[in-house]
Amino acid sequence: MLDADENETLAALLAWYREMGADEAVGETPIDWLVHGAAAPGAAVRERIVVPAAAAAPAAISAATPLAAPRPGSAQAASRPPPAGHQPSRPAPAVSREARSFPSAPPDVSQLAARTAATGAPSLAALEAALRSFDGCGLKATAKNLCFYRGAERARVMLIGEAPGRDEDLEGKPFVGPAGQLLDRMLASIGLTEADVHITNIVYWRPPGNRTPTPQEATVCRPFLDRQIALVAPEFVIPLGGAAAKHMLNAAEGIMRLRGRWQAGEFGGHPVRILATLHPAYLLRTPAAKRLAWRDLLSLKAEI
Ligand code: URA
Repeated sequence: MLDADENETLAALLAWYREMGADEAVGETPIDWLVHGAAAPGAAVRERIVVPAAAAAPAAISAATPLAAPRPGSAQAASRPPPAGHQPSRPAPAVSREARSFPSAPPDVSQLAARTAATGAPSLAALEAALRSFDGCGLKATAKNLCFYRGAERARVMLIGEAPGRDEDLEGKPFVGPAGQLLDRMLASIGLTEADVHITNIVYWRPPGNRTPTPQEATVCRPFLDRQIALVAPEFVIPLGGAAAKHMLNAAEGIMRLRGRWQAGEFGGHPVRILATLHPAYLLRTPAAKRLAWRDLLSLKAEI
């Protein structure tokens, strides 16, 4: 039993973890990567991790629990120490679990491997199989599921978001949470259903704590996305939100400058027209911006 003080400390620590973006347990036991020296995370920790049976407190209160990276805007906050009074915990529950391995290859090697795996894929099913056996993107280590796509295999309109969130990670499909439901309603307003479109993201695994994927993570996934676009063969590519728009348009400007302007592009050798628009998650937080998204939707409707 924890006493009142311990309870309070534990609650404060968990609240702090949540604020930092660590809103989900990705393992039952904490892994202290630092004790493995300079080796790449995971490379040296293939042995089974067995923790003593007499343990009582949840693994989450161990000082060694790795933190998920913070949500955008909370970068400095992530370096804050845990709440005062926090004591490194007693041993974790008796659990035996194999550590998941993280990719250790340098980014250019991972990207080359991605290109080799993706370009040879003759179908979406083959591309999905290639993605499932690809270990070059670190996001895979913490995600529960691969989120490849939802919608039609071939479509005139392809929508590309930022990254799977919690609901998507659980279901293994892009845009199935509240933002996805709004996206479906937006598409319905211009007469499109899931059967008319192909929906995916610039990365295929959920970033821990729902942070924005890094440019490196997006870049390493890019050969798969380029091949996916070539296989789906859309006429129109619609990046949703700033991260997707910048990545797909290779641009530095913000979404408010990029949105609403048709541009020509080519992915995996396939020519498309690109129209960036606002992310439905942003529209849920900022309903006043819906009129801008509506303008973009009407512009898409006029073309199809
Ligand atoms: N936000 C995204 O960018 N993609 C999803 O799949 C879900 C939410």
